[in-house]
Amino acid sequence: MESKIQLFFLTLFLLILTNHAQTLGTYIVQLHPHGTTRTLFNSKLKWHLSFIQQTISSDEDPSSRLLYSYRSAMDGFAAQLTESELEYLQKIPDVISIRPDRQLQIQTTYSYKFLGLNPARENSWYQSGFGRGTIIGVLDTGVWPESPSFNDHDMPPVPKKWKGICQSGQAFNSSNCNRKLIGARYFTKGHFAVSPTRIPEYLSPRDSSGHGTHTSSTAGGVPVAMANVFGYAKGVARGMAPGAHIAVYKVCWFNGCYNSDIMAAMDVAIRDGVDILSLSLGGFPVPLYDDSIAIGSFRAMEKGISVICAAGNNGPTEMSVANEAPWIATIGASTLDRKFPAIVRMGNGQVLYGESMYPVNRIASNSKELELVYVSGGDSEGQFCLKGSLPKDKVQGKMVVCDRGVNGRSEKGQVVKEAGGAAMILTNTELNLGEDSVDVHVLPATLVGFDESVTLKAYINSTTRPLARIEFGGTVIGKSRAPAVARFSARGPSFTNPSILKPDVIAPGVNIIAAWPQNLGPTGLPEDTRRVNFSVMSGTSMSCPHVSGIAALIRSAHKKWSPAAIKSAIMTTADVIDHTGKPILDEDKPANAFAMGAGNVNPQRALNPGLVYDIRPDDYVNHLCSIGYTRSEIFSITHRNVSCHAMMQMNRGFSLNYPSISVIFKDGMTRKIRRVSNVGGPNSIYSVEVVAPQGVKVIVKPKRLVFKQINQSLSYRVWFISRKGAKRGADTMDFAEGHLTWVHSQNGSYRVRSPIAVSWKPK
Ligand SMILES: *[C@@H]1O[C@H](CO)[C@@H](O)[C@H](O)[C@H]1NC(C)=O
Ligand SMILES: *[C@@H]1O[C@H](CO)[C@@H](O)[C@H](O)[C@H]1NC(C)=O
Ligand SMILES: *[C@@H]1O[C@H](CO)[C@@H](O)[C@H](O)[C@H]1NC(C)=O
Ligand SMILES: *[C@@H]1O[C@H](CO)[C@@H](O)[C@H](O)[C@H]1NC(C)=O
Ligand SMILES: *[C@@H]1O[C@H](CO)[C@@H](O)[C@H](O)[C@H]1NC(C)=O
Ligand SMILES: *[C@@H]1O[C@H](CO)[C@@H](O)[C@H](O)[C@H]1NC(C)=O
Repeated sequence: MESKIQLFFLTLFLLILTNHAQTLGTYIVQLHPHGTTRTLFNSKLKWHLSFIQQTISSDEDPSSRLLYSYRSAMDGFAAQLTESELEYLQKIPDVISIRPDRQLQIQTTYSYKFLGLNPARENSWYQSGFGRGTIIGVLDTGVWPESPSFNDHDMPPVPKKWKGICQSGQAFNSSNCNRKLIGARYFTKGHFAVSPTRIPEYLSPRDSSGHGTHTSSTAGGVPVAMANVFGYAKGVARGMAPGAHIAVYKVCWFNGCYNSDIMAAMDVAIRDGVDILSLSLGGFPVPLYDDSIAIGSFRAMEKGISVICAAGNNGPTEMSVANEAPWIATIGASTLDRKFPAIVRMGNGQVLYGESMYPVNRIASNSKELELVYVSGGDSEGQFCLKGSLPKDKVQGKMVVCDRGVNGRSEKGQVVKEAGGAAMILTNTELNLGEDSVDVHVLPATLVGFDESVTLKAYINSTTRPLARIEFGGTVIGKSRAPAVARFSARGPSFTNPSILKPDVIAPGVNIIAAWPQNLGPTGLPEDTRRVNFSVMSGTSMSCPHVSGIAALIRSAHKKWSPAAIKSAIMTTADVIDHTGKPILDEDKPANAFAMGAGNVNPQRALNPGLVYDIRPDDYVNHLCSIGYTRSEIFSITHRNVSCHAMMQMNRGFSLNYPSISVIFKDGMTRKIRRVSNVGGPNSIYSVEVVAPQGVKVIVKPKRLVFKQINQSLSYRVWFISRKGAKRGADTMDFAEGHLTWVHSQNGSYRVRSPIAVSWKPK
């Protein structure tokens, strides 16, 4: 997260540089798919070039300005244009919108066990074939194909429908793909338009950062025995869907991921034949008609492709959740019950809890007592251990305290080491409180929470020669309450569309161990020469591929289910209690629906949910009408030209058949309609259980649903009546929550739960 801040500054700087009338900028131009001039050209590419030709001066080759021509994820192209050209282009008929390119950011051995999956034969994980036959497309930083997680030894042949390629490039050719990693492509044009200089990163699908290797193997890595990071968390590493095939689309580079490249990857992935798209990247929420991922994923969803996205790491700020289109599964982060304790024993005998992963075999020699130093004051760069901020004479041979923030956590370790420091204590600030993201460092190090950091600094202040030692405790499982909501996990309500509750679910995203490029040290720093096959990372980036893998399992077990049915299965079966049987926590209080959505994913139950809430593509169009999008905005997203007035007339009382319920009281009463399909056994009877939000009366009709057949659908209606018209807040939103659960009358393990979030608009 620290590096995100840096990148944000970089973006500002670039904006200032490029904000000049005659400089070229990258724009994504959306066209009317049945444009009036379309038939004059025998290919989409020629048609797209004609728009550029009309716009630029006649002696220039229009193809020199074209970056990408899109036809599946949207109709249109990405091109480099000046501002005056833009003004001209805007006036050409058939151009429906032009958006400047936007830069987004990339946001195991154990998580499969923690989620209750068991590879034994009698189990539904086994019965789902571990995702056999499905293809997961991962848009990320590429892949390290030699990682043992991508071994294809036990993989079935490549599915016949697959049309993708294994694109050659630097240190990568077609022999790097196999029956596990069936495709790989890379997209550079949007990135190069902004950063033309080549920097040392592979110009090919090969992963230079580690992030894409990590996420791809989390979704679909094969089992690897004795996976570990320096002896920590030893065990079998496997992805959520070890039977699924993986196709990687490298769209993220050292400076982020550009929409024009992402759109190009989605465009071709749809044609390649992926079943699932996994996007561990994002930015800040923007309206759906301005959101390339929302637009591309609508088209993907229409083709039956599930799109799974990270919710973002901007929590716990309210309304920070990104990638929130209703046809996307939006994934927040939860913790595992695995800890890597590395306590700090201070010279005065006091002990502070910390966490770390440091090579187990080096511990004995490196945990000796050292003098503590905290370089604060002055320009305070030393406090964050920024490059060049630590005077050698002050830190030589000492244990250096570094506050989190500004620069990357691994980089701080590198800075301390370069300055001659012997060890490091990373201290959380008020921003991250007790969040415990473990990293691998180039020197002995641990991370302590905010409260501990206050004690530590007071001790340093209290004596002339403060001392401490780090005691590494290995891997500890099951001692802490988990899952819990990760502090950094982005929160709802949705900024652009509060009528849909987001995030949808949470999934493991803290200290996740997964595959790693063999040429990189675990910190990802070039100076780090220690080779590993696995490393640890945290973020909603890690949560997203867990759910992509689960979606592959469900798809493999239920070939005909739509993306909405798959998402419904994941949401209605999610856990809201933790492993101690108490409510899932968010810091020290029970998590609300804006933090965890429907709850923490439970793949075992998601494979057999009993009932599903299905949604047809047309329903989303209706929904966009109901939230007040204009005809042209709806056209941008859906390529459908509808009269909302007529549509609303035809579907009076429409509500989107979403598996969770968000009620916004404008007056005292709201009604929702839902329709559930029976995917359990024939002759199933379900009864409703409601826990009403405080201050709200909830009436469900009917209270019992009697299904005679499999695949039969039944509707029910729910009325929400506010009991507190008077208690409406004057200027702040007022929230409450509850849930509605359909319970099978003979088999209580079919529990189909929908969270209810209600809010009262300020007067
Ligand atoms: C990493 O994986 C490769 C390929 O499977 C293997 O040869 C190598 O020994 C592994 N390295 C470590 C440190 O386990
Ligand atoms: C791919 O690269 C490897 C190593 O550089 C080489 O041995 C192999 O022949 C190449 N394969 C193809 C199909 O080009
Ligand atoms: C340490 O002492 C200095 C000066 O005596 C003071 O400004 C600072 O706030 C103290 N820091 C802590 C963490 O107690
Ligand atoms: C949509 O249809 C209306 C009339 O039915 C027409 O005037 C309008 O140009 C169409 N818009 C698009 C983007 O096709
Ligand atoms: C279930 O019903 C839907 C339409 O409601 C249909 O498209 C689908 O093929 C049916 N599936 C089965 C297994 O009958
Ligand atoms: C009861 O429901 C669970 C799914 O929650 C299912 O796995 C199990 O087979 C069902 N039992 C019977 C007897 O139908």
